[in-house]
Amino acid sequence: MTNLPVTIRQTRLEDAPELELLQQRCYPSLDPIHLFRHEHIVSQVTIFAAGQHVAVIGTQIVGMSSSLRLNIDLGHAQHAFDDMIASGYFTNHIAHGEWLYGADMSTLPEFRQRGIASALYAARKVLIKTINLRGMVGGGMVPGYRFHKAKMSLAEYAAKVASGELKDPTLTPQLRNGYTVRGIIHDYLHDAELGNDATLIVWDNPDYQA
Ligand SMILES: CC(C)(COP(=O)(O)OP(=O)(O)OC[C@H]1O[C@@H](n2cnc3c(N)ncnc32)[C@H](O)[C@@H]1OP(=O)(O)O)[C@@H](O)C(=O)NCCC(=O)NCCS
Repeated sequence: MTNLPVTIRQTRLEDAPELELLQQRCYPSLDPIHLFRHEHIVSQVTIFAAGQHVAVIGTQIVGMSSSLRLNIDLGHAQHAFDDMIASGYFTNHIAHGEWLYGADMSTLPEFRQRGIASALYAARKVLIKTINLRGMVGGGMVPGYRFHKAKMSLAEYAAKVASGELKDPTLTPQLRNGYTVRGIIHDYLHDAELGNDATLIVWDNPDYQA
């Protein structure tokens, strides 16, 4: 757990301008079409307030988590990021969807490695258990893969990160928070520096009751 005086709370409509800036700082090489702007945050909070969280220290928002409920067939889970989240508006949210789909998890660069994302993941897990969902699914970006691309496939890289042989700035914390890699998603999004493929990551709710 974090040793910072951080509070996790639901995102509010008035957080939208600060979150728009946080997105820009957290994803400097991501194609801007994928970044959440003011109108996306407003739509997300309006459609599914319970799935949106921020981490706050004092009066500053230092991290955010956004999610929506969907029905997902894990056997056919190839998808594009924008399709899964209605291009950031969450208008495809299913009120009784069985899975929580993680649309975003980001911590301001200067607050990383201090447990902020872990605290936000913990809030997601509380939500999942409270409303009895199957678990959470996401497409995980893999920023460290570009340094190993010439030597191995993304699947091989993910396996090495999972075994602890390699460390990835994003996948390692996701695995530490209980996710497992269930496959590779091709052309998930567009990132000039990090590449377009992602890992399909899943956390199963151990308390789920069918
Ligand atoms: C991925 C990301 C959200 C992680 O956020 P974070 O707040 O740094 O995550 P945490 O601090 O919870 O965990 C990161 C590491 O810090 C360690 N840590 C946690 N608390 C710590 C503490 N008090 N002191 C030292 N280390 C700590 C964790 O154990 C973890 O180590 P690991 O990498 O070996 O697993 C962040 O790097 C980020 O915003 N990246 C850019 C956006 C992005 O790519 N998001 C994911 C999209 S799929």
